[in-house]
Amino acid sequence: MIEQIKADLAGADARSIIHYIDQHFGSNAIFSTSFGIEDQVITHLIAEAKSSISIFTLDTGRLFPETYYVWNRTLDLYKLKIKAYYPETKSVEQLLETKGPSSFYNSVDDRKECCYIRKIEPLKRAIKGYQIWITGIRSEQSQNRDQMDFIEWDDANQIIKIHPLYNWTLSDVEKYLKDNFVPYNPLHDKGFVSIGCQPCTRAVQEGEDFRAGRWWWEDKSKKECGLHVTHK
Ligand code: ADX
Ligand code: SF4
Repeated sequence: MIEQIKADLAGADARSIIHYIDQHFGSNAIFSTSFGIEDQVITHLIAEAKSSISIFTLDTGRLFPETYYVWNRTLDLYKLKIKAYYPETKSVEQLLETKGPSSFYNSVDDRKECCYIRKIEPLKRAIKGYQIWITGIRSEQSQNRDQMDFIEWDDANQIIKIHPLYNWTLSDVEKYLKDNFVPYNPLHDKGFVSIGCQPCTRAVQEGEDFRAGRWWWEDKSKKECGLHVTHK
């Protein structure tokens, strides 16, 4: 199936990709939004197409207040249903009881443990049973992402992933937001490019790479939370 979709979508722009997914998969396709700038473009395209593609977000419990602000603005403007997934209470309670609220700064393993509890486990529940998972990944975001494709098989989650903005540049995204009056996270105007959890995200300086502000205390090669690891 993936080869067929790839052939059908060769050269298609983001709007056509969303339209195609809607026509062929409808509510069997799901889009994950973190309310980042790329995700806001996709939300706008889904709303514009009056598509039945499902939407969810993972609320880790450690998001910025600005993320909740743009979440609200998005609901008000587009009148879409956005399902929210939360970590398992027991796991969070146990983590904080044993390691405290900031264990992610201790080591890569501790950071990955927190990401697993707050993001990966809820993600698995969110995408279970769907055929297509849409994300806002762009190739430019990191060296690792540059090696991917706009469509891929996620073996770990047994789902087809599609990244409609895969070939967009940051300026393409910013221009789209501006031209279409799309609400976005106010932190973007303060130097935040890629935005995740508050304790693990900072602004980037001129010339730094896109993901420099994520888990900035870690070695560059380790900087993925595991949401987008496609092998088992
Ligand atoms: S991450 O793996 O480092 O956290 P990143 O922030 O670059 O990912 O976002 C890439 C894509 O992953 C987003 O466009 C979105 O589809 C998905 N994503 C990331 N964080 C979340 C979240 N909290 N809720 C839902 N989707 C998310
Ligand atoms: Fe935990 Fe930081 Fe990962 Fe968020 S980004 S889940 S706070 S380690």
